[in-house]
Amino acid sequence: MKRLIITIDGPAGTGKSTAARLLASRLELPFLDTGAMYRAVAWRCLHNDIAFDDETQVVKQTQQIRFEFSGNRLLIDGNEPSDELRSDEVSQAASVIATLPAVREVLVAQQRKLAGEYSLVSEGRDQGTVVFPQAECKFFLTASAEVRAERRWKDLREENPTLCKEMILEEIQQRDERDQNRKTAPLKPAEDAIIIDNSKKTREEVVNLLVEHVQQTTDYS
Ligand code: DC
Repeated sequence: MKRLIITIDGPAGTGKSTAARLLASRLELPFLDTGAMYRAVAWRCLHNDIAFDDETQVVKQTQQIRFEFSGNRLLIDGNEPSDELRSDEVSQAASVIATLPAVREVLVAQQRKLAGEYSLVSEGRDQGTVVFPQAECKFFLTASAEVRAERRWKDLREENPTLCKEMILEEIQQRDERDQNRKTAPLKPAEDAIIIDNSKKTREEVVNLLVEHVQQTTDYS
């Protein structure tokens, strides 16, 4: 069968990782979580005390990480991405190191290499615009910053009851601002992307929409 590439891009907190993971699992395709790759670089820089603006050193750290697929899952240095990669500290740091063109260059090359000649679902900020412009299906998921902050607050409040919703909103807005306004590969929908605002949609509704679209526009069933 012909190679099928599906890209899902969008800002932080739209639930696109979950949607992409579920879509990949419904279609039995590998899932490439490119955010986890930027997070892995950020984690490593924090761990090794590397300044985020020291591009040469950050690139060195990036080149030392091993990314590979095990079946349909991405492994980082031989392990599943850990929960530590999802902390607020790593999230903010990832958005800062993602502004470095030389780091992006290394990771984009890795992403294309990982995809190889296979079909896959790839999720991030620049997958439809820069990494796989030839992709057959491109989606861009959005939701208002307020809805995204509310969802994140609900997810985290059990674990951290003192967490302030306004602070989460501020962090989301800071990340949006950095992701959308960086010079290299800024976050934006590809011209041929289907834009889905999921502010009022459930996770299942979104995944069903994605699956329906893939089945209607490709010969994948
Ligand atoms: O999708 P995420 O929240 O896990 O991504 C973490 C950060 O990495 C995000 O702030 C922007 C950056 N990123 C990027 O610039 N390009 C990608 N393809 C994926 C993530």
